[in-house]
This record gives sequence, structure tokens and C-alpha cells, in this order.
Amino acid sequence: MEAIVTIENLRKYFDIKKSIFSKPRKVKAINDISLNIPRGSIFSVVGESGSGKSTLGRLILKLIEPTSGKICFEGEDITDLGSKDLIKYRREMQIVQQDPYNSLHPRKLIKDIVGEGLKIHYKLPSDEIYVRIKEILERVGLREEHMFRYPHEFSGGQRQRIAMARALVLRPKFLVLDEPTSALDVSVQARTLALLKELKESLELTYLFITHNLAVVDYIATHVTVMYLGKIMELGSKDEIFSNQKHPYTMSLLEAIPSVGRGKRIRKIPRGEIPSPLDPPKGCLFHTRCVQAMDICSKEEPDEIEISKGHLCRCHLYS
Ligand SMILES: Nc1ncnc2c1ncn2[C@@H]1O[C@H](COP(=O)(O)OP(=O)(O)OP(=O)(O)O)[C@@H](O)[C@H]1O
Ligand SMILES: [Mg+2]
Repeated sequence: MEAIVTIENLRKYFDIKKSIFSKPRKVKAINDISLNIPRGSIFSVVGESGSGKSTLGRLILKLIEPTSGKICFEGEDITDLGSKDLIKYRREMQIVQQDPYNSLHPRKLIKDIVGEGLKIHYKLPSDEIYVRIKEILERVGLREEHMFRYPHEFSGGQRQRIAMARALVLRPKFLVLDEPTSALDVSVQARTLALLKELKESLELTYLFITHNLAVVDYIATHVTVMYLGKIMELGSKDEIFSNQKHPYTMSLLEAIPSVGRGKRIRKIPRGEIPSPLDPPKGCLFHTRCVQAMDICSKEEPDEIEISKGHLCRCHLYS
């Protein structure tokens, strides 16, 4: 499959300074990540809090600058583009955030929230803008009369649909969805996910789908990347990761949801706390919590190993 987004050796280090007197320390939020996102895929990124999922999404959208590495969109290197050259990509790549309560301007009408990007990116007559807004609202299950209401008049699920309409009105090709349903009630979650799946097909989109919920991944994803402390631990097709997972960390994540865990039944529940990203473990980043850790794991970091075509795993068990 052709890649719509390619990233190579991407790094993002944040400088953290406790006080004006202390030496700044680095958080390696993204630490040497390379991957291809196939066009038409729902490419999900999973991992516990702080593993770097949101940072990865924001880097691809060029909302923040990488420390080093390369980002390509449809074969074009966009790593060093300035804001003027990025205008076209700003339209083609959109984001839907987790929190539908804070992401919509409370004193703006829905038509202005959804239409804002249209006014920036296209010089369209106002009747055409009106039609485009109306059409996209209907596309996400809302109605024309909703254009003249304010965000507080809507439920969480409806607000998330408004956020989707705002992203989709620009006819993007690529969408970053950062925990798009995790703030919603379970029943609303299911309907929102079904809508996202349907929109992806009918509008020929590609998603980078960020979540920590593997039941959601099981439902929606075509590909899965498992991240831990800024690195990829395992990556592969959804089927491969769910039925032939190799990394003890992936196993522990899958084990945490009984309906999904189909791996070998050894004790795999994640033990202990995630180490501080300011002071990550030597050797394999996961060895302090790994039930299968060996001597080598605390000494040497494992390379990414190709288990089969398209299935990568970073673990000494396979080297
Ligand atoms: N602007 C920033 N300044 C300093 N550190 C940051 C910044 N943004 C993120 N980080 C740090 O980078 C690491 C990765 O953060 P990120 O938000 O990408 O994780 P995440 O996987 O999205 O977590 P969550 O599941 O909680 O959303 C964390 O250690 C975080 O504290
Ligand atoms: Mg996040």
C-alpha cells in the first residue's frame, strides 16, 4: 500500500527546567521513530499516558517542530516548510481533539465554528459557504437549524460531531483523531466510532487514531503501533497485533481487556508504574516491568526486529 505519511528517525525532546537555577533536563517524548501510514488506513497509536502519542500526532501536523528527523506528506518533505508553504497542508491534514467541551469556542455560533477554516482557506461567496457548512453538518448527523446555536446547547457526542464537521469541511485527506471518543459515554462512543468508520470510507480519508483503549482499536483500526516512553515497541496490522502479538508489553495491554486478549495465557498484567520519562531505564525501556525480562534486557537496548513483513517488534526475546 502507498504511504500518505512517512516519518523517518523522528525525535522530539522537551527541555524541562524545575527552577531558574537548575540545569534543564530532557524528556525524549519521541525518540527515533520511523513509520509509514498507508493511504486509506486507520492507523492507531496506543500506549499508556505519557508514551508520546499526542506529541507524535502534533509533529505530523506540524503544530510543533521536531528536534530532528523527517516528515513527508504524499511524498513531499514538509519537515522544514514555513507557515506560508504549509497552508496547503494545513487544509489537507486536520485534527479532532479529545475534549469536545473545551475545543469549541463557547460564544460562537456553530456556523462560524465550522465555517472558520473555509473563510481562511477558500475565497468562496457566502451562499456557497452556507451550503458547504449545511452539507457537512448533515454528513455528521446534524441539521441545518443547528448552525444558529451555540456549543452549550449540544451534548458531548453532538459536540464531537461538530468538531468532526469543522475538520471535514475543508475536505482533508488525513485526520489525526486524538482520543476522539474517550470523553464520551459508552453508548455515544459506539455511535461516534461507527460514524468515524463510515466517514473514513465515504470520504476516502486516512486516520491517525490515538487511543489507550484497545477495545476501540479492535473495532476500528487496520494497523496498530504500540508506544512506550517515546519509542515503538511493536507495530503491525491489526490482525497481526491482536492474534500474533510478540512484545510482552503488547501482551500486557491486550490482557487488560479480557474480551480481546487472545494471546498465550501467562501472567502479563502490567506491573508497577511507568518509569519517569526524565530518567528512563537503561537497556530495554520496558525491562523494569517486563515479566519475561532476561539479563541482557537491563544492559542493551533491543533493535527493531522484523517478525514478518510489516510486523516489527523491539524485544530481545526475538533477537
Ligand atoms: N509541551 C511540553 N513540554 C514539556 N514536556 C512535554 C510537552 N508535551 C509533552 N511533554 C512530555 O512528553 C511526554 C509525552 O507526552 P504526550 O502528551 O505526547 O503523551 P501521550 O501518550 O499523549 O499521553 P496521554 O495518554 O496522557 O495523552 C510526556 O512525558 C509529557 O510530559
Ligand atoms: Mg495524549
